[in-house]
Amino acid sequence: MFSGRKQKQPVVREIAKLGNPVLRKIAEPVTDFDSAELQTIIQDMRSMLEKSNGVGIAAPQISESIRLMIIASRPNDRYPDAPKMKPVVMINPVFSVLDSTVIKGWEGCLSIPGIRAQVPRYQAVQVNFQNPAGEKQAMDLQGFVARIFQHEYDHLEGRVYLDHVVDNKDIIAESEYFKLK
Ligand code: NI
Repeated sequence: MFSGRKQKQPVVREIAKLGNPVLRKIAEPVTDFDSAELQTIIQDMRSMLEKSNGVGIAAPQISESIRLMIIASRPNDRYPDAPKMKPVVMINPVFSVLDSTVIKGWEGCLSIPGIRAQVPRYQAVQVNFQNPAGEKQAMDLQGFVARIFQHEYDHLEGRVYLDHVVDNKDIIAESEYFKLK
């Protein structure tokens, strides 16, 4: 399940790109919260998020097929309108829909470079998850942050956001997306 790496310093990991089978696997639950490997993976994901101007990342994107994600909305070059929040590490997340209104909004993915698409997502969800210490947590998310969560949750289920696109015309090049902004 883990890569077997022992050293503690963050290394540059490669982002798995669309076509890599790891992105189509259903990720395994995390059971061992005392594992140093788990904490290393979390650290690597945090530093990759910062470097890549992402607003979320899921472990399968760094070829670790485990149920772990970080959501970290903040305005940056890739998402100028993103709201600012403290990054949240979510392990073994499950969710229920709080507001079933479905809204289309723009998404991109580090695993699918150069593309943006309009994706329908629920407006608000409640998430139950474990933190890196294994403690149970709950959070209500809405709007763009709920969207990030649903996007990252897809990665744990072997799906990508393009699977939800309802019309191919909703898919555009990232360079055209920036002209819209
Ligand atoms: Ni993604």
